[in-house]
Amino acid sequence: MNILVIGSGGREHSLSWKIAQSDLLDTLYVAPGNGGMTDIAICVDLSASDHDAVVSFCREKDIGFVVIGPEAPLVDGLSDRLQSEDIKTFGPSADAAILEGSKGFTKDLCAKYNIPTAAYARFSEAAGAKTFVADKGAPIVIKADGLAAGKGVIIAETIDEANAAIDDIFGGQFGEAGAELVVEEFLEGEEASFFVLTDGESILPFGTAQDHKRVGEGDVGLNTGGMGAYSPAPVMDETITQRTIEEIILPTVKGMAAEGRPFKGVLFAGLMITDKGPELIEYNVRFGDPECQCLMVRLTSDIVPILMACADGTLNQIDAEWSDNVSLNVVMAAKGYPGSYEKNTEIKNLDQAGSSDNMVIFHAGTKKENEKIFATGGRVLNVTAMAPSVTAAKNDAYAALDQIDWPQGFCRRDIGWRAVERENS
Ligand code: AMP
Ligand code: GLY
Repeated sequence: MNILVIGSGGREHSLSWKIAQSDLLDTLYVAPGNGGMTDIAICVDLSASDHDAVVSFCREKDIGFVVIGPEAPLVDGLSDRLQSEDIKTFGPSADAAILEGSKGFTKDLCAKYNIPTAAYARFSEAAGAKTFVADKGAPIVIKADGLAAGKGVIIAETIDEANAAIDDIFGGQFGEAGAELVVEEFLEGEEASFFVLTDGESILPFGTAQDHKRVGEGDVGLNTGGMGAYSPAPVMDETITQRTIEEIILPTVKGMAAEGRPFKGVLFAGLMITDKGPELIEYNVRFGDPECQCLMVRLTSDIVPILMACADGTLNQIDAEWSDNVSLNVVMAAKGYPGSYEKNTEIKNLDQAGSSDNMVIFHAGTKKENEKIFATGGRVLNVTAMAPSVTAAKNDAYAALDQIDWPQGFCRRDIGWRAVERENS
């Protein structure tokens, strides 16, 4: 079978790397892909927003299965269009992708189906939002309703900060995504990412991870897409996992079906483990990046039948096997990220750095020209290691990373610190 992966990040590199190992695969295409994928796939210049072009490409290349990586094409209905053309696709419909596309929708779903989450209110004008903030006090969280490339959440430490965030959002900072906003209670606890595959009815838990969203060591500074992750997340012990499934995941899957929006794909629950138990911070309707890279190196089963079962409605016949090892990855980003940064700088010595059996270097913002690799984006590389402990995986990942010759790049040196502290206490 020929398979097409949509996307260009580290997440899609790791999905492609895993799909490339499948016995079911003939030729793998990635649109648009990146500089690290050319060894395993044919990278094609195809825009995910041009649905006609994607359908034509699938016909021309006899594509049997499409895997959509990022959220934007899902919210934009690419999965619906492909499936209406009888092209099997991994990724939810636009009606179901609203779980990520509208924070207000998700909060209302939680309220209706009794899913634990922060107390909230929705607003479409500033005065009401400010009155609510004044009543609740700080710290308080202000969120643009729609997709804002991970930047639409403001944790306000003071009422003034909250009011400024409300003005910014309604002032158009996030465009259409800020036509509405959610104000919610600030939750305290440890964060974790929980992944579950679903075909709309059955679920298959698909791993846990912890990300590091802030740009600076010690979790300070601006929010980013994620500066490194490890899997599994130790905080997701058996009890918390079971409670998450029963109190959050199953009511969501049943609720979405009851709303006439059956969810088929991967549900990525961003959780806060509070002293009351797991609470939902948000849903994403795709794999996390860089969490996905950590999951893919640990998954020992063939991923293709697993993802296909989500589309086919046969997930109850599927199991997934995982390595007992843990994985950890460190993101190398261009200096300046998440602000502005230099592009087209050369990266050297990647082959040597990634040569150990327990290492994979996944690419994100890179391109390959004349056998040389150049950085083209903010997040550029994911140096991913597997080992029996987080401490060992961390040491291996940084040892490899230190062999990469890229003066214009930087990374956090403390990825995994929580788990390392737990292991060594
Ligand atoms: P999101 O884009 O919704 O994942 O939010 C970005 C980050 O903001 C999350 O990973 C949390 O660290 C933080 N966050 C969001 N909502 C809350 C909340 N209600 N309480 C505390 N932290 C939050
Ligand atoms: N790493 C967080 C995300 O993918 O949303």
